[in-house]
Amino acid sequence: MHNTFQRDNTVYVGAMTGGETPAAYSGNLTVFVTFTCLVAAMGGLIFGYDIGISGGVSSMDPFLKKFFPWLLRKKLTDKSTNQYCKFNSQIFTVFTSVLYLAASMSSLVASTVTQTMGRRLSMLLGGVLFCVGAIVNGLAQAIWMLIIGRILLGFGIGFANQSVPLYLSEMAPYKYRGSLNTGFQLSITIGILTANVFNYFNNLHGNAGWRLSLGGAAVPALAVTVASIILPETPNSMVERGKIEEAREELRRIRGVDDIEHEFNDLKYASEESRKNDHQWRNLLQKKYIPQLSMAILIPFFQQLTGINVIIFYGPVLFKTIGFNSNASFMAAVVTGTVNVLASCVSIYGVDKWGRRFLFIEGGTQMVVCQVVIAIFIGIKFGVNGESGDISKWYAIVVVFFICIYVAGFAWSWGPLGWLVPSEIFPLEIRSAAQSINVSVNMFFTFMNAQSFLTMLCHLKFGIFMFFAFWVVVMTMFVYMFLPETKNIPIDETAIVWKRHWFWSRFMVDVDYPNGVEPSDISNVVSQTRLEVEPPLISPQPNDRLDEF
Ligand code: BGC
Repeated sequence: MHNTFQRDNTVYVGAMTGGETPAAYSGNLTVFVTFTCLVAAMGGLIFGYDIGISGGVSSMDPFLKKFFPWLLRKKLTDKSTNQYCKFNSQIFTVFTSVLYLAASMSSLVASTVTQTMGRRLSMLLGGVLFCVGAIVNGLAQAIWMLIIGRILLGFGIGFANQSVPLYLSEMAPYKYRGSLNTGFQLSITIGILTANVFNYFNNLHGNAGWRLSLGGAAVPALAVTVASIILPETPNSMVERGKIEEAREELRRIRGVDDIEHEFNDLKYASEESRKNDHQWRNLLQKKYIPQLSMAILIPFFQQLTGINVIIFYGPVLFKTIGFNSNASFMAAVVTGTVNVLASCVSIYGVDKWGRRFLFIEGGTQMVVCQVVIAIFIGIKFGVNGESGDISKWYAIVVVFFICIYVAGFAWSWGPLGWLVPSEIFPLEIRSAAQSINVSVNMFFTFMNAQSFLTMLCHLKFGIFMFFAFWVVVMTMFVYMFLPETKNIPIDETAIVWKRHWFWSRFMVDVDYPNGVEPSDISNVVSQTRLEVEPPLISPQPNDRLDEF
């Protein structure tokens, strides 16, 4: 039962528990919701496994011999001493990058499935498509099979990445949303590390090693498929599809308390708003969504311009360039992969405590410093001709060390936040469509990275690290000026942060505060006492609850 009271002209509703302040949404971090989110986060495994596997496989000689023999011949007979241009081949990169193009397109289709048929169905499709793709790749006899397999994997990733972050953000109690959503990034990094370790052993394994590496993707895909069958649907999606009573029960179950009316009413309101305008794509173009739409495009664009995938995809190639032998290169990739996993845990711990902005800014600064140091080290050794002479072991180790610090900076900032922030800032009426724009832009620029890195390395030489450092400076300044903090704000209320923002508020003129009154302190009002008037934030309606007052 709700109690309402009025303070400073603002109407509050809360489950009064005997204290002087009204409660926030009730509900804890239950074992059930934690388990559910952990299982769902496994959706990141397939993405991560794939990111980690392809770079390694494409530098295995037996793989090249079977599918790209002319490349292997070129590689073995290449007498050029220019290290920067050794691996520059467009065909070589198509194998890696075609997947991301497929993912970029399928995430747009996934939007409709996720919205009209639920988050779980998209996850299921993601798992199944990925599984088939992995089998086709593991059994590949010709290039066309490789490409078809990669396209299927891409379709699977498009569906999974579109639905899993949304699923996590909707399931999580708002105070733990950051940590639980970051589970997705953690499982991406575990997927990458598993692939790095697999590549290391399969490289030693000789001829069939690449088949094991590629076919092995079926294992995480099966896990995701099973997970999507056993997991419950999110209450938000149930309400969105008119299953009101089931949604209420489900919310009660995942929050572990009976008093969920408060959150449930917001949810229903968000859904009613959403139903009034059932065309998500058109809605996205409304003026009031310019802030969210800008973020849906810019955050994934910036995430890929951190340059992380240069290290992740081409780690083994890069490490060979700086003088490691084949096995040591794979080992160095395992080391950076381990740092990536461990550093994601820092984000899980801190994202709801220190906030998104702090991590973005700290991580960005750390990345820039490391990129400049790496550029200097490689520049000194390889100059502009790319001729290294002898490289001492310590030199290569120092470079790997700075690469690790850079990876750590990414892994607790742009890595997880690149998925978390977009998934939590969209109102329900545009959530699914906006999330697919986020995935699509992310995948498109992942494709561009994969496709252009080797050519860029050949032309920009050590300056390539300066190129990415420049972009990290730009994005860090962007966050500082334009990204509002969303820590501890309920997912269906994040509109308030734009309305308060010095720049974005100009687009929010037809979005009003509850009761037309500006809350005096967001952190106090929204996160702790949790301001609530129905409707929550958008377009005030008569205070039909005031009779309880
Ligand atoms: C990015 C990937 C990247 C991975 C590295 C993810 O958040 O989207 O492109 O490879 O992090 O851990």
